[in-house]
Amino acid sequence: MGDLFSKFDPLIEQRETLLQGGVTDPFNLVMERVESPTVAICNGKRTILLGTYNYMGMTFDPDVIAAGKQALEDFGSGTTGSRVLNGTYVGHKAVEQALKDFYAMDHAMVFSTGYQANLGVISTMAGKDDYIILDIDSHASIYDGCALGNAQIVPFRHNDVEALDKRLKRLPPEAGKLVVLEGVYSMLGDIAPLKEMVAVSKAAGAMVLVDEAHSMGFIGEHGRGVAEAQGVIDEVDFIIGTFSKSVGTVGGFCVSNHPKFEILRLVCRPYVFTASLPPSVVATAATSIGKLMDSADKRTHLWENSKRLHAGLRQLGFTLGTDEPQSAIIAVIMPDLETGAAMWEALLREGLYVNLARPPATPAGMTLLRCSLCALHSEDQVGEILGMFAAAGRATGCIS
Ligand SMILES: Cc1ncc(COP(=O)(O)O)c(C=O)c1O
Repeated sequence: MGDLFSKFDPLIEQRETLLQGGVTDPFNLVMERVESPTVAICNGKRTILLGTYNYMGMTFDPDVIAAGKQALEDFGSGTTGSRVLNGTYVGHKAVEQALKDFYAMDHAMVFSTGYQANLGVISTMAGKDDYIILDIDSHASIYDGCALGNAQIVPFRHNDVEALDKRLKRLPPEAGKLVVLEGVYSMLGDIAPLKEMVAVSKAAGAMVLVDEAHSMGFIGEHGRGVAEAQGVIDEVDFIIGTFSKSVGTVGGFCVSNHPKFEILRLVCRPYVFTASLPPSVVATAATSIGKLMDSADKRTHLWENSKRLHAGLRQLGFTLGTDEPQSAIIAVIMPDLETGAAMWEALLREGLYVNLARPPATPAGMTLLRCSLCALHSEDQVGEILGMFAAAGRATGCIS
């Protein structure tokens, strides 16, 4: 009998070699206690968190926690059902209303995760004989949405407007087309030229979906994302988002102004064939989204943090994913996986948690230390973080 696990042997070997070198497993860290959005206890040590997606620091907001507790008391721990059967409670309608208010859009549909939102909307909207034109660096959930459906897939070079335009012009003019973009690309923290991309997509008669997972709450005047910041939100057909980042809980959504949008509730399999979010989760999400509408000061502080960390890391001699800070993600490029893992561990020993990212999640085979800032990181913490990067960088030979 063939062992179906054999295909993973190269990965098993790579992992074992790494761990034999005495490195802590970077993909198996346990948070023993979480004290706040920016500090946790890991291996018994106070650790600054710089590798979460808690951009707006909502996880410990007292109003958010109170709403979750109340919903748990009033509605129980779970719905035990799909949104289209017994799984729609008043809380699910309330969080959809909160999203419509936040984005100033007509429709909002909540999924159990952002992953499922992409899976569902992409696979349902683009059918047989349609085309999905997507940035080659798209998130796994976008690729999996393509794989679940049966449209033709046309990738184009990352953030390349001309490449997108060329691909679109080669497709049959009458065919259905869905252009799939992200506001912020989460590996390097770079943003998309949405203004130009939406313009060429619309000129080619395509519908546009933008995944704003990493920009919600932070980018744009009202925190609606890169499409808002670049003045094209009204031309975007679908915005996909998640509750697992700035909102501070779990869940996913799609908002749209399309008049026929509500039909998706009946035809979108990742919406229909799964249980809905627990009442406590939708209550925390609705409260958090309401507060994000009024968070201009936090947005300003987060931009300051991002600029300060970017400049500081550059000054120390690290190579970064972007020339200028474009989002709350700052990626430090490592020469290889071994050095990346050693640096990751040295940072953890210093008391700093960042994300180690490697292929296939990263573009161009890169190993990255991804730093994601929080609006609640204090100026002092950013200073501490830079000190830890300096010490770990020198200890591992990454900088001199
Ligand atoms: C761009 C993007 N889209 C979607 C998702 C999925 O979000 P969720 O955690 O809600 O499944 C992620 C998560 O990392 C993401 O980075």
